[in-house]
Amino acid sequence: MRIAFIGSGSMGEAMISAMLGQGAFAPDTICACDIDQTRLTTIGGKYKVRCTSDVGSALSDSEVVVFSIKPQVLAKVMKDLKGKLSEGQLALSIVAGAKLDTIVKGLGHDQVVRVMPNTPAQVGEGMSVWTATSAVSQEQKDAVQTILRAMGKEIYFPEEKYIDMATAISGSGPAYIFLIMEALIDAAVHIGLPRETAVELVTQTVLGSARIADESGKHLAQLRNMVTSPGGTTAEGLQCLEEGGMRAIIAQAVIAAYEKAKLLGGDNAK
Ligand SMILES: NC(=O)c1ccc[n+]([C@@H]2O[C@H](COP(=O)([O-])OP(=O)(O)OC[C@H]3O[C@@H](n4cnc5c(N)ncnc54)[C@H](OP(=O)(O)O)[C@@H]3O)[C@@H](O)[C@H]2O)c1
Repeated sequence: MRIAFIGSGSMGEAMISAMLGQGAFAPDTICACDIDQTRLTTIGGKYKVRCTSDVGSALSDSEVVVFSIKPQVLAKVMKDLKGKLSEGQLALSIVAGAKLDTIVKGLGHDQVVRVMPNTPAQVGEGMSVWTATSAVSQEQKDAVQTILRAMGKEIYFPEEKYIDMATAISGSGPAYIFLIMEALIDAAVHIGLPRETAVELVTQTVLGSARIADESGKHLAQLRNMVTSPGGTTAEGLQCLEEGGMRAIIAQAVIAAYEKAKLLGGDNAK
């Protein structure tokens, strides 16, 4: 399978790096296409993939065309490429907010997959959610799974509405977690821990907590109770978080991100 990336910025690079890193793809099966020549030189040097600034040659030689450009430039890129994808070629978009219908109409092509990946894909721990038009074949869906599994986990949704919801959780989620980690590190420094130690304590605590949540089979409340002795330090800290409205503010953040994802989709459709 040959894959072209239209746009090889941070997310395109994360995908290329994961696909090569897992050994699922050979460098000569991947083509990076970008208008930024410096970017192409970097990607070509680092990953030994084929590089071009000519979108036509990237297209002509690929079964899967990944659209990894910013939402603001999607309309222009689709206008340039309208009618140029042939039957059997798959358009795979990771552009936030861009609906299947928008891409089908924009490209004049009906075999389209929409993916919402996230940045932990860079280390093979990504969470990608995706959906497809009815014209996408089972073989093409299998190919999409191979690409996405190189980056971590993937979930297919037959209904597109779940993509905007997942955008607010797994797409934006790493940023929420990083903010919480920063807050914990700053608080650790505030009570007197050296910053370097604080970073290590917090990072390993988050990694370990995620693993036990994933592997123990226990409910999160059960895991929390295991750390919370009666009248102890954790109970004191948790009480403070509840009084500060942590659950409510997280719910508000997710709802705000979801509303924004729907709004972006609406804007792109125009
Ligand atoms: N970052 C995330 O966490 C994340 C998560 C999920 C989905 N996404 C989606 O992934 C997409 C890519 O994001 P990104 O952060 O990788 O963007 P990015 O770093 O800006 O990369 C896009 C690249 O495409 C180039 N480009 C612009 N117009 C082009 C054209 N006509 N032909 C070929 N290349 C062109 C850009 O060059 P210039 O810089 O010169 O314009 C840039 O090098 C976005 O749509 C975003 O919504 C991102």
